[in-house]
Amino acid sequence: MKRMLLITIVLLNLNDVFASREIIDLNENWYFQSPYQVWSEGVRQRWGKFTNVDLPHDFSIAQAFDKNCVTGTSGGYLPGGTAIYRKEDVFIPETWKGKRIYVEFDGVYQNSEVFVNGVRVGKRPNGWISFGYDITRWLDFGKTNMLSVKVDNSLHLNCRWYSGSGIYRPVRLVVTDPLHISHNGGVFVSTPEISAEKTIVKIASSIINEEEVQKKFTIQYEIADAQGKIVARGETKARLKIGEEKIFSQEIGLSNPLLWDLDTPNLYVLKTKVLSDNQLADEKSTSFGIRSIRFDADKGFCLNDKNIKIKGVCIHNDAGMLGVAVPYGVLERRIKILKDMGCNAIRTSHNPFDPEFYAICDRSGMLVMNEIFDEWTVPTTSRVPYGSNLFWNEWHERDLRDFIRRDRNHPSVVIWSIGNELTEQFFPEGKDIAERLVKICHQLDPTRLVTTGNNAMPEANRTGMANAVDVAGYNYGPQFELYEKDRLKYPKRKFIATESTRGNSTRGYYSFPIPEDGLLKRTPDMYYSSYDGITRKYGMEHEWKVTKELDYISGMFIWTGFDYIGETDYPWPSKYCNFGAIDACGFPKDAFWFYKSQWDEKNDVLHLLPHWNWQGREGEVTPVWCYTNCDEVELFLNGKSLGKRSFSNTPKLRLEWNDVQYEKGELRAVGYRKGIWIIEKKVETTREPYGFKIETDKSVLQNDNRDVVHLTISVVDKNGLPVPNANTQFNVKLSGNAKLLGIDNGDPLFVGDFKQQDNRNLFNGLALAILQSTRKQGVVEVEVSGGNIRTASVKLQVE
Ligand code: GAL
Repeated sequence: MKRMLLITIVLLNLNDVFASREIIDLNENWYFQSPYQVWSEGVRQRWGKFTNVDLPHDFSIAQAFDKNCVTGTSGGYLPGGTAIYRKEDVFIPETWKGKRIYVEFDGVYQNSEVFVNGVRVGKRPNGWISFGYDITRWLDFGKTNMLSVKVDNSLHLNCRWYSGSGIYRPVRLVVTDPLHISHNGGVFVSTPEISAEKTIVKIASSIINEEEVQKKFTIQYEIADAQGKIVARGETKARLKIGEEKIFSQEIGLSNPLLWDLDTPNLYVLKTKVLSDNQLADEKSTSFGIRSIRFDADKGFCLNDKNIKIKGVCIHNDAGMLGVAVPYGVLERRIKILKDMGCNAIRTSHNPFDPEFYAICDRSGMLVMNEIFDEWTVPTTSRVPYGSNLFWNEWHERDLRDFIRRDRNHPSVVIWSIGNELTEQFFPEGKDIAERLVKICHQLDPTRLVTTGNNAMPEANRTGMANAVDVAGYNYGPQFELYEKDRLKYPKRKFIATESTRGNSTRGYYSFPIPEDGLLKRTPDMYYSSYDGITRKYGMEHEWKVTKELDYISGMFIWTGFDYIGETDYPWPSKYCNFGAIDACGFPKDAFWFYKSQWDEKNDVLHLLPHWNWQGREGEVTPVWCYTNCDEVELFLNGKSLGKRSFSNTPKLRLEWNDVQYEKGELRAVGYRKGIWIIEKKVETTREPYGFKIETDKSVLQNDNRDVVHLTISVVDKNGLPVPNANTQFNVKLSGNAKLLGIDNGDPLFVGDFKQQDNRNLFNGLALAILQSTRKQGVVEVEVSGGNIRTASVKLQVE
């Protein structure tokens, strides 16, 4: 009886009295200056002009595009520079005395130095890595403290693409007891044994004792399913000396596990509690998934013992008009668009992404090739001499370790990539470095294999670098016809196409005649035709065909999912590259439909190109192409059959009617599978723009200063048909409490101000506005108007 009473008291204590770990967002109300004028750290007075900003914040995208900017075609003509961020209102309560206080940065580009009340607590050159500092000893308790971050992105070129600048990802304080779970990946969960009846959940918890006395404690584990029901428990007794940090391992059985898979991304939450002196010292929740992964030399990739082809995209971490300061809601939309394309994997080319990106992939059933470096000891290209090679010696091991520890619990992450197109492929050092880095990866994460993206495979074979990693990564493999030869030479080799399919296209843009075998398909308009004229081996059709047909190729990652800033082939004012299957706003190009027709295994797909608004081209040859997963399609123009085309008569992955003479009216395509009607699509010539249209992806926002809504703006004709070639001007009027993050139309040649609301224009029928909530509730109204076109408006509720 007495014992029971004691237990009750203890439980009450644990749940109600002690808040063991607190996490405080530090994303609002920063003072910002760029370039910084006087280095005034430690002094509260601000010299020069400061503006008030919230995080995430990218100070490159906030500036004007500049033809003479040194970042040029690589960085999309946007400047870098120096900056200082000061948060002057960090109140540290008296009650935190005796606690450990840690500040965590998800990413600062680049060369950041962090100061607390004027004292420098650390620096971090790498602009993509997450990092943090224990700042306890520099804080004043019971007072307001000042946190400052100096950023230096002034030495160019330091990146082959647009990097952005500043504190472009969230920042937070983490407050714990001195006896606590180690920061950054302190709890590592893996599931080495999986069967339908039972899974062994293996947990390695790193605990540190920063108390002045040695500590005896208990580590308690609770695993909850998606509904929050506890499905397994475990406990370990432990002890640590003063200042000691140690890993404690434990295995817990879990019955009838619900596996994490692409369509059913089941997740569990592991709660780790550290109990000492009958008190809860620390507590941390770790989301994880139960799934098995395997790369096989004959079969390619297997998820949960099922052989699947990786249908992936490479992406950079910018989101067009937002630069690299990308709210979670925008990331979510982008991943959803990729899923809709039938894509099942993303390669984080060529650097660590926002931690939330991986969490979204976990929730969405999206696989990730998690890549860390674009160069090692020497630059990849002489054009970009000031990249991460400058701090390689001092930082790369630390960066790699922090990266693996941060991301190793994500079920979505199925493979690590330690680099892309490294110059070291050509030199014997490449093998040594790769072996050393692979060892670090395996030591910190024995559950995943490691690759590199090689664009010089014969060299990487010769120097041994290709075999120093677990899975040989080919960039544009079919270009050199290497797969079969290498497989004969290295029968045990595991293959993946780390990068494939280079092709440019501009959304909604077509040029005639179809360019023949043009790699870049340059046009006088500085756009790229959406007719995929590439018949070369790295064209989208050929690469996919090879990947599909060769079982041992685990899959491929196309270059790229979305258009991104920088790396443009055209000169000024072209600021977006056009490699994406989707434009920078997230609007699908025809290439999206090619992949959907090949990758989407659930839906019937039939897409026709081009649009059918070709006033002035009457009687001229205007080829019609079709991307579909039907096996036969009949095309009609104004009711007249132009014939059936079937995949049994063509080696191509599209159907073509190349001699169609344009006449206005209606194209109609009817798709059949095994002779049975499956799907029908129409493309019609529209009338003049009549009214604006706004479509939103939600109507209610949270007043959390974070939530976003995407507004797609278009024009329709009198019959309500969207006008695909309209470049109509419009103005956006916003009332109520919401921030306009930007307006864009995906046009690579637009170099104006994304925040400008007047005199904007659609690009080939579309534009996108992104709004973000503030802390205020109420109604937000958006009105789009222009010329004599009917105005459109929407009302959104902020709750
Ligand atoms: C690849 C490289 C990518 C990108 C692409 C452009 O070789 O890995 O980062 O530069 O070329 O075509």
